[in-house]
Amino acid sequence: MGCKVVGWGKALPELVVTNDDLAQIVETSDEWIVERTGIHRRHIARSETTTDLACEAGQAALTQAGYDPDSIDLLICMTITPDSVVPAESCLIKARLGLTHAVAFDLNAACSGCIYGIDMASTLIEASALSETVPAPTRPRNRYRRALVIGAERLSRIVDWTDRATCILFGDGAGAVILEWDSTAPGVLSSFLKNTDDPQLTLACDTVFGPAALPFTQEREELSVRAAAGLTDEMGALLPHHPYIAMQGQALFKFATAAIVEAAQIACERAGVSLDDIACIVPHQANERIIRYAAKKLGVPLERFQISIGEVGNTSASSVLMALTDAYQTQRIQPGDKVLLVGFGGGLTSGALVFEA
Ligand code: UT7
Repeated sequence: MGCKVVGWGKALPELVVTNDDLAQIVETSDEWIVERTGIHRRHIARSETTTDLACEAGQAALTQAGYDPDSIDLLICMTITPDSVVPAESCLIKARLGLTHAVAFDLNAACSGCIYGIDMASTLIEASALSETVPAPTRPRNRYRRALVIGAERLSRIVDWTDRATCILFGDGAGAVILEWDSTAPGVLSSFLKNTDDPQLTLACDTVFGPAALPFTQEREELSVRAAAGLTDEMGALLPHHPYIAMQGQALFKFATAAIVEAAQIACERAGVSLDDIACIVPHQANERIIRYAAKKLGVPLERFQISIGEVGNTSASSVLMALTDAYQTQRIQPGDKVLLVGFGGGLTSGALVFEA
């Protein structure tokens, strides 16, 4: 018995932006982007909101599983680009999809969001199922039997479109899965989540609100996440507000490859399986080179990795769920297969999860 993946879906904005399109706005080339990242194109929202994308992916998962919105007890939305801070993105989705009975909340674990979201949902579902075996009503609580877990991002809102080092990487999109308690299937076998302090802010983005004129704030710089972390420029001044994604690419690359290897190995160990037992590995899609490097380090043939980045770029919290949907839709994942999800991202966050399909 366990918590099983029973539905999946994804959504992409209509507009496709190629590397050649980007070469029109920053100094770059299709050749450089493909060689360094494996990305050929990405989808960018023109009119689609995060809620539009999330609802399309969520509805696709519901349709695929054949479930009514009413039957969902829990909705977790992982995002760093909600349409609003309040109401939470999950509340907007809940209302639009008509998830009448769901408890809904957002989760921000940056690009590791999918792993964190599935782990939280499956932990709640398992706890609910186990608490039903305890004589009631010693601990009366909400019951979670079926969860919709959605990763949705409109990263184009927080990309600095003048910075060629970052704007070529990101795309918009959403992915979703439905998880439910199954007394006959093992479902999620293990998980491993980790947070690593990031005092140098190798990946950061200030709030999108910006430093508005605040009557009680003396220095605008105090509002910067970099200032909060005590980071200064060469002149010693606290680094100012920067409402766009900024990252130290090479430092992140190193973190990413080490994090994937660590998380994959620990999650497999905890599940009592070897990497050879895993039919499909679905990694965060940040850079194809990172995936290739990790495959080599883990000693796993690249063919066992789902690689979707070429068509969509890095979609942060949506990335693993969109790639997982690709793997299901192309029948790469068959009933009974063991699947490994692995991610890393800002925070810094990382993690992995093994489940039986
Ligand atoms: O999900 C969030 C986590 N993010 C990541 O995991 C990102 C991890 N990092 C990476 O994927 C890679 O570091 C990048 C793809 C971001 C960059 O690749 P790189 O091989 O590390 O390039 P680099 O930063 O060392 O830059 C090499 C050169 C530089 O020129 P010089 O100094 O050698 O003359 C850059 O200015 O490439 C230049 N460059 C570009 N050239 C053409 C940087 N961006 C571009 C560009 N087009 N778009």
